[in-house]
Amino acid sequence: RMRAALAPCLAAAAVPSPHLPIALGPRSMSAALRFDGRVVLVTGAGGGLGRAYALAFAERGASVVVNDLGGDSKGHGKSSSAADQVVEEIRAKGGKAVANYDSVEAGEKLVRAALETFGRIDIVINNAGILRDRSFARISDEDWDIIHRVHLKGSFLVTRAAWNHMKNQKFGRIIMTSSAAGIYGNFGQANYSAAKLGLLGLSNTLSVEGRKYNIHSNTIAPTAGSRLTQTIMPQDLVDAFKPEYVAPLVLWLCHERCQENGSLFEVGAGWIGKLRWERSLGSIVREKNHPMTPEAVQDKWEKICDFDNASKPRTIQESVSILNDVLSQIESEEVSTNPTSYTRSTSSGFDPSKYVGQKLPTVVYNYTHLQPILYALGVGMSTKDPDHLKFVFEGSEAFCCLPTFGVIPAQASLWDGGLSSIPGLNIDFTKLLHGEQYLELYKPLPTSGQLTSESTIADILDKGSGALILLDVHTYCGKDLLCYNQFSLFIVGAGGFGGKRTSEKAKVTVNPPNRTPDAVLSDVTTVDQAALYRLSGDWNPLHIDPGFAAFGGFQKPILHGLCSFGFAVRHVLKHFANNDVTRFKAIKVRFVKPVFPGQTLQTEMWKEGNRIHLQTKVKETGEVAIAGSYVDLTSTLDKPSAKEPIKASGLHSDLVFEEIGRRIKEVGNQLVKKVNAIFQWDITKDGETAAQWTIDLKNGSGEVYQGPAQGSADTTFTLSDQDFMEVVLGKINPQKAFFSGKLKVKGNIMLSQKLEMILKDYAKL
Ligand code: NAI
Repeated sequence: RMRAALAPCLAAAAVPSPHLPIALGPRSMSAALRFDGRVVLVTGAGGGLGRAYALAFAERGASVVVNDLGGDSKGHGKSSSAADQVVEEIRAKGGKAVANYDSVEAGEKLVRAALETFGRIDIVINNAGILRDRSFARISDEDWDIIHRVHLKGSFLVTRAAWNHMKNQKFGRIIMTSSAAGIYGNFGQANYSAAKLGLLGLSNTLSVEGRKYNIHSNTIAPTAGSRLTQTIMPQDLVDAFKPEYVAPLVLWLCHERCQENGSLFEVGAGWIGKLRWERSLGSIVREKNHPMTPEAVQDKWEKICDFDNASKPRTIQESVSILNDVLSQIESEEVSTNPTSYTRSTSSGFDPSKYVGQKLPTVVYNYTHLQPILYALGVGMSTKDPDHLKFVFEGSEAFCCLPTFGVIPAQASLWDGGLSSIPGLNIDFTKLLHGEQYLELYKPLPTSGQLTSESTIADILDKGSGALILLDVHTYCGKDLLCYNQFSLFIVGAGGFGGKRTSEKAKVTVNPPNRTPDAVLSDVTTVDQAALYRLSGDWNPLHIDPGFAAFGGFQKPILHGLCSFGFAVRHVLKHFANNDVTRFKAIKVRFVKPVFPGQTLQTEMWKEGNRIHLQTKVKETGEVAIAGSYVDLTSTLDKPSAKEPIKASGLHSDLVFEEIGRRIKEVGNQLVKKVNAIFQWDITKDGETAAQWTIDLKNGSGEVYQGPAQGSADTTFTLSDQDFMEVVLGKINPQKAFFSGKLKVKGNIMLSQKLEMILKDYAKL
């Protein structure tokens, strides 16, 4: 009866959508997150959410300071029993904990308890809280102050006391506890909302100041049943929204492996969502030499509030970058008088549509063996590795060009005489970021010669905070097409012209599989890596001139994205292709974070058939520099000779096996993990065995070949070509075929249940 009465209430509460993706804990493939050796301070841990955090951290090896003043939910009184009980609970389970009964307003004392008992402080969970709910007009000074003292000032004092210790040890994780009341506003909670959103601002700045010390600060807005919510939530929900459904997010955010910083999450009932800011494109409401008026604001109101093509600024730099453009647009009187669009200029403004499809002048690139060698050194090849000699010594018998050298003749199209010279396009090179790169080789690159490159502006996209230019470059040697490049160039601040956001011409990035990488290789770049790399033809001063770098907002000159790109491909070729350059087919990369010369590049690689997914991290900081990337290799020509190359035996089933073989190349690794078996198929025709096939999902990354299983099959199936097709087409199910005697199974019959995984998609053939 209760449930029925509460159903509408539940629907209106924190349940966000009926189709949420669910990540089930027990099914996680990740290694357990442990906190051994870490010291955690949880404020207000005597009950509710804080208690759940303290128990969860202790269970995973952390030493926990259980702080709680032990007053009532309005902040009256105090007692030691709340904290003591939680400490006892932890100790009874064999965990390490100590109680502290101070108010968070005595911040130093809480941190001292951690230092004196456990010798350090790694993680601070600012959780203590009280309520003084009143409608706005009835809030007393005291109601206002105490809420701010406990929530906002308390979190400040505790965190400040821990800060220098975190800084010195170059590790710290901080959680601020905000609330949906602050994010959205809530009746009767003006004091509380103000303090709670104040915590978000505090966390945002700590995330900026702490970043370089590996101190991360994140904010959560939880929903959980506790004594605080008991008064406003029905008991059913108080029981259903367990604090244990919030704690795992807090633990993950505080783990050393988690790189999240400066973010805000809503969490409750087993669901977690991330929030961010969205900003409309807005509108310029001022004209040169005219006063700005409220009427102009009114006139443009719809445009100001229009979220089409909205941007999502993540940093204050991204946020204010638009203001410079606004000033220069007003100054140059480029503002259109058309009230629905401010940047689509009537005269000299940026109207990209007329550049799309435009061809740039052909660029000729002459080179000798010098350039490929210089390039190889630029991307970190070294005589230290005997295998590298063929890239750096023109006298080597196998002297060859690294495939990524293919970007060098093409990039000339960007500079003088190329993209930068198109009248009216006016690219400001201090605002140019190389966003993505695609390179496909059709032939190995010659080690010297004359190459010509034809470039076309494939598309120009409006990304809100900037314009994205897709530049397609085809490079020829004589008449032979050698390679194709697509440069994705992001011009900060040039967006907002009302253009489209995506293009079917864009080569897209692909996320790596969700498992630990199959291989990881790393290489240290030298302090002079960028100085060396630029000699291959990318002369942008951003990579060498500290003044220019500072102007672009970088603390020092950064490494060329295409240099890191060269390192990444070297790693793939070394690990998966024995440094055989003829195996390289194509690469797509996305540059996400700058790398500084001298840092270590660590490439994580996942093999999926002939595609090697990759991501490159800066080892020192753990930050991902290249993401969503992959290299496609050609398949090995030298297949193991014992296995016959696939050849047709004239049966219908041949096609199916060939197709299964092709798809297994794409997803083999996953199937090998799931199935882990070798299946042999004896296909009969007119009562005789007409063909034998093996699906090997046990060894390597899985494959399909004609003939009996090498080694031995786990399960062997015998059936006619015709019945096989019926099974595959879903006309009879395998069980039926088995019981009617059409399908014979030898060996491990249980494994045949896994067949469905292999066959399920093939019914569509
Ligand atoms: P709770 O009342 O069970 O826990 C808060 C704890 O903080 C209490 O044990 C209390 O004794 C302690 N505390 C209060 N003032 C203190 C002080 N000056 N110094 C040290 N400890 C003090 O409540 P709950 O729900 O677990 O709240 C935890 C935090 O989550 C609070 O900051 C609250 O505002 C926040 N929150 C909770 C929501 C929920 O749905 N439960 C929703 C949004 C925010």
